[in-house]
Amino acid sequence: MYRTNTCGELRISDKGKTVTLAGWVQRVRKLGGMTFVDLRDRYGITQLAFDEAKNKELSDQAQKLGREYVIQVTGLVEERASKNSKIPTGDVEIIASELNILNTSDVPPFTIEDETDGGDDLRMKYRYLDLRRNAVRRNLELRNQLTFLVRDFLVKRNFIETETPCLINSTPEGARDFVVPSRMNPGEFYALPQSPQLFKQLLMVAGFDRYFQIVKCFRDEDLRADRQPEFTQIDCEMSFVKQPDVIGLFEELIKYVFSTIKSIDFNEPFLQMTWHDAMRLYGSDKPDMRFGMTFVEITDIVKNRDFNVFNTAAYVGGICAEGCASYSRKDLDALTDFVKRPQVGAAGLVYVKYNADGTFKSSVDKFYNQDDLKAWAEKFNAKPGDLMLILSGSDVQKTQIQLGQLRLEMGDRLGLRDNTKYAPLWVVDFPMFEWDEESSRFKAMHHPFTSPKAEDLQYLESEPGRVRADAYDFVLNGVEVGGGSVRIHDRNLQSRVFKAIGLTEEEANSKFGWLLTAFKYGAPPHAGLAFGLDRMVSLLAGLDSIRDCIAFPKNNAGRDVMISAPSVIDQSQLDELCISLNVPEKDK
Ligand code: AMO
Repeated sequence: MYRTNTCGELRISDKGKTVTLAGWVQRVRKLGGMTFVDLRDRYGITQLAFDEAKNKELSDQAQKLGREYVIQVTGLVEERASKNSKIPTGDVEIIASELNILNTSDVPPFTIEDETDGGDDLRMKYRYLDLRRNAVRRNLELRNQLTFLVRDFLVKRNFIETETPCLINSTPEGARDFVVPSRMNPGEFYALPQSPQLFKQLLMVAGFDRYFQIVKCFRDEDLRADRQPEFTQIDCEMSFVKQPDVIGLFEELIKYVFSTIKSIDFNEPFLQMTWHDAMRLYGSDKPDMRFGMTFVEITDIVKNRDFNVFNTAAYVGGICAEGCASYSRKDLDALTDFVKRPQVGAAGLVYVKYNADGTFKSSVDKFYNQDDLKAWAEKFNAKPGDLMLILSGSDVQKTQIQLGQLRLEMGDRLGLRDNTKYAPLWVVDFPMFEWDEESSRFKAMHHPFTSPKAEDLQYLESEPGRVRADAYDFVLNGVEVGGGSVRIHDRNLQSRVFKAIGLTEEEANSKFGWLLTAFKYGAPPHAGLAFGLDRMVSLLAGLDSIRDCIAFPKNNAGRDVMISAPSVIDQSQLDELCISLNVPEKDK
């Protein structure tokens, strides 16, 4: 037996027991005749004590232990003279009588402690060492707890976990596909699933009625803090349900997860907001509801002065930052720089300070008098001491999105985006289509298997931009955690939607003929949704990035720096796959 106990287990009640522990050497300290070793495993840290006076040879051996050596120690559990209240085992130590070095270790490239000196790249290169750190390990334990709870919840409600294939054709979720060449079918490629969308729909046709899968999905898109090229979905589908049934059930799941993991009970039903209101009031389809600062539009009341910027704008609106009238020139310049950044793209920022004495000071004093500014302040519901920040533009939605970014920036500056608070929201009634500048055609905003709202079907051919979808997103703290929709189960309607996104009947048949065929054989009404597991874990862990919720993530260039993937393959492999490369000079 390698060990009788783990390093996180022993307490004062174990005093007097002889135990054997195994683990990694975190630290060795010599204090007079005593040598102390912090022994670490997944469960915690236990102090080992080696007394020179009692066993010189053993004590000498202990002093020579290096960081991350793997050792086995047998000894007596004793009460510690100086207790450490910071760790659960801090009342005891093991008076070592036997020491067995199971393996040595090179000096690790960074310290394996909660606060590490390792930079991102280094930690990723030696991820297996990074995973020894509490902070990262805890995230994976949380992930495990979450998937366990989800499975338990869904299985109890008759959901069947079913695997769907990974080597498939392209699924139109909007990103690029990762493709895999087929040796047996030269010149042909599989695509890795962006989601199991169509297979889960086929399972509904098959009568499975309630499906789920905790499943890897692959999308070749630009990476951000909350995006990985391979990520995991909690993917679900149900038959004979409408939107409120799906939202109701998965809201219950979220509540169950939060109550079990975080002891947070959401007593009220989650807020629901239409996509249109989300854009109008927050400039985002995933508004962060942890704070207010909703938009106020003043387009109508700013015209007819000499300020051409506002006169010609299609949208003028802003936010009111409470108590920020004291912002300095420097603060305001920083905010102006923020909105002018290419990622935001506004032309400039107008501010109006509502001074404590009731007067106004603004960046447009030349054009607007105190009465004008007072009228704005009334619209904003501003009080003396507040600061109004205003953007304008010729494109309503673009300007609202810019203002949304400014709102988040102000939320950050004012500490309103507290990671220990959770503000859930369902965004509903998404537009069915969005205009794609690149291809000059409408494309499905969610995916083309989403059902348009019955009352908007009449506009499908005449005014596609007006059609709303039976689609819904679950948003938490400004993060899109889940998305889903009621699906089309009628073959004719599916053809009309394909046509609306510019797919000819031929193209539709060649890409999705098998789906249209399946719909001929009694497809039940169905709906579903998928949560992003990585995003959910990162929110539960209070993290801004999903990377530390994934055991072996990719970096921002989509690389696994530890195994050095992607990598070139042998010419013989390429030959076998009938592939010849044409890498541009600059990428070689
Ligand atoms: P959607 O594309 O909205 O819907 O994806 C569902 C959820 O998956 C997560 N997600 C990601 N997480 C990490 N990295 C990524 N690159 C990434 N992309 C998406 C998000 C998102 O809300 N088939 C539909 C679901 C359905 O309609 O049932 C789908 O995939 O949290």
